[in-house]
Amino acid sequence: MITNFKTIFLLSLAFISVIALQPSYCVYNGEKPLQCASYQSLNQTNGTSLPKYTVNLDLSYEDRWRVIITNYKNALQGFESRIEQLPKAVALESQLPFYQDTNFLAELQAIASFAGVKFQTIQLISQMYESLDSIACTSIVARNSDGSIYHARNLDYDFVKYISPLLANIEFQRGGKTVFIADMIIGTAIVVTGIVPNGYSITINQRQDDGQAISYLKKQYIPACYLIYKILQTSTTYDDALNSLMNTKIAMPAYFIIAGLSGNQGTVLERDRESVHLQTTLSDSTWFICQTNYDRSQPDNPDDYRRIPCEQKMGKFNQNSWKPQDIFNILQQTPNFVITTITTDIMNPKTGYINSTRWYNPPYSTEQSTYQQILSISIIILMVFLN
Ligand SMILES: *[C@@H]1O[C@H](CO)[C@@H](O)[C@H](O)[C@H]1NC(C)=O
Ligand SMILES: *[C@@H]1O[C@H](CO)[C@@H](O)[C@H](O)[C@H]1NC(C)=O
Ligand SMILES: *[C@@H]1O[C@H](CO)[C@@H](O)[C@H](O)[C@H]1NC(C)=O
Repeated sequence: MITNFKTIFLLSLAFISVIALQPSYCVYNGEKPLQCASYQSLNQTNGTSLPKYTVNLDLSYEDRWRVIITNYKNALQGFESRIEQLPKAVALESQLPFYQDTNFLAELQAIASFAGVKFQTIQLISQMYESLDSIACTSIVARNSDGSIYHARNLDYDFVKYISPLLANIEFQRGGKTVFIADMIIGTAIVVTGIVPNGYSITINQRQDDGQAISYLKKQYIPACYLIYKILQTSTTYDDALNSLMNTKIAMPAYFIIAGLSGNQGTVLERDRESVHLQTTLSDSTWFICQTNYDRSQPDNPDDYRRIPCEQKMGKFNQNSWKPQDIFNILQQTPNFVITTITTDIMNPKTGYINSTRWYNPPYSTEQSTYQQILSISIIILMVFLN
């Protein structure tokens, strides 16, 4: 009797741990999984659009940010307390400032004073691509049947719970006219998703982190996401923006994705710090490009299989009749929707359209999935010992 209970108990535990450890998304050949994603991914529907604000670039840094930052004080202070728990961040704070551009630091100083958050924290947040955990992401550029280019992205990042409340669509104006719109993390002077209406749109995806970024920031190579913020403020055309994205020295390798107004104006740049490693551009025969977090010269990473599934799904659409909602669907489904996906954006530079969705992830954080993994590993160890 006791043995039976023990057997049933162990079998149930084994079953639970197999479920818990199962990769979230696989591509099958018959019964045999060919490739599986180890990222926990899911289909998600619980999202809402972002709040919208206007920022006047004609004003001083203090005057342009005062109201917005003051209203987001609590969320920024929450993010600060989370960052303070990271030994890596605390160790880095004493080495600041890294990138010392006068405008960069002046804008961050203004933000820090209204947020009631340490200047060091605000600097780290705006250099998080280089100094904290990396962003993952999917970006897609695709030519529509009307000839215009759509540009879509998922932003995936570890601090979902803290960044999500800080997201907003901010329209930056000069002389009362729109200069650009960004899906921005309030409290930063960086952009990972932005659009210049009737110009172009830019997104960044994370490329391999070699651990050297801080030393390059100190050599005054620009933070990649600050470069985007600057380009959006100064470049009005696709060619001009592309030129800066190709030729500016950046502190950490990155994928820059840029879309323009029509034709073949859609490019993925695999950037090294000082040069372009590879450029992939739309052509008469290539109407879309999917980019995740790996070089295209390599096979899609079998442990993080997202680019090929994206390409397969896009490839099923008719290039003369697909709808923006089709791309949105890919991004809100497994495997491109991962549990750290914070926001999905769909943009069209020709019309200036930007649709940003903030997600409320059910598992909510990677902390929970790590916990699940530890649980299932403990169960397996327990089983070995009990046997
Ligand atoms: C996610 O949605 C896709 C498309 O509707 C569907 O094929 C798939 O089975 C769904 N997966 C899960 C885990 O619900
Ligand atoms: C735009 O965003 C809304 C809400 O966030 C979403 O329901 C809708 O599907 C999105 N549409 C497109 C075309 O991306
Ligand atoms: C959507 O997310 C919000 C915020 O986490 C939560 O309050 C709400 O219950 C969720 N709705 C559904 C249908 O899951």
